[in-house]
Amino acid sequence: MQILDGKIVSQAVKHELKEKTRRLIEQNKKVPHLAAVLVGNDGASETYVASKIKNCEEIGFKSSFYRFDAATDEATVINKIQELNNDKAVDGILVQLPLPKHISEEKIINIINPAKDVDGFHPVSVGKMVQGLPGFVSATPYGIMLMLEHYKIDTAGKHAVVIGRSNIVGRPISVLLSQNTNPGNCTVTLCHSRTQNLKEICLQADIIVAALGKVAFLTADMVKENAIVIDVGITRVADTTKKSGFAIKGDVDFENVAPKCSYITPVPGGVGLMTIAALLKNTYTACVSP
Ligand code: GUN
Repeated sequence: MQILDGKIVSQAVKHELKEKTRRLIEQNKKVPHLAAVLVGNDGASETYVASKIKNCEEIGFKSSFYRFDAATDEATVINKIQELNNDKAVDGILVQLPLPKHISEEKIINIINPAKDVDGFHPVSVGKMVQGLPGFVSATPYGIMLMLEHYKIDTAGKHAVVIGRSNIVGRPISVLLSQNTNPGNCTVTLCHSRTQNLKEICLQADIIVAALGKVAFLTADMVKENAIVIDVGITRVADTTKKSGFAIKGDVDFENVAPKCSYITPVPGGVGLMTIAALLKNTYTACVSP
């Protein structure tokens, strides 16, 4: 069993971006600039945005952070996004989800200029991804693909079972794995809460992507020998032994599943780190695109 190490792969991606950014500075060119918008005070969202900004700083990107309290009206957030759309200094715009209930996520995502949609959530980005055209792929599925590429995992012809059909992870990763690319060329089964015989389907999988957000959902009896398991779960669970008061848990019962796998991603230290690396890669692309 080999660990797919998000720390190693994300460091490699960030090292490359840092070098490329250094070269942009040497040539007096514009440096990538990510603008992050956070509405409300969801603890997990605050941690994620802070980490994205810290990572920008580490590799020499510029960043700006716009924070609104939970009661902010939709029009105020829309105005800020329009301002960022029009700001030539800003390359990428990230609006951290979820948004408070009175703000329409659909409206907000739709208003982002697709050329700055480094999260890849805009319908234009999703459409391009589905058609295999160049564009921004959302960060978590893109990060998973970068990880498979880094470890030179042969996915062609393999049966990939994706559990979860979210717009952010399940559906895009099912499309990417089915594409005629490397990695890719999988036969994909997309499972969800209404799927029947989930265990039997998982037992046929060469690759399982668990992206449903339920702690330790994927158990050893659902996984065949030598399967590749990608754990996208990042649920906070109370843990008094931790300084923060919580631990991050994945969707996979790692302890019992790992011994059966050829490759597996840990939580933390797996896909989560790749999500940030992929976002940074998209931001660099947005900056250097004409
Ligand atoms: N919420 C959960 N994941 C993400 C993500 O990748 N980007 C944004 N903007 N919000 C999220």
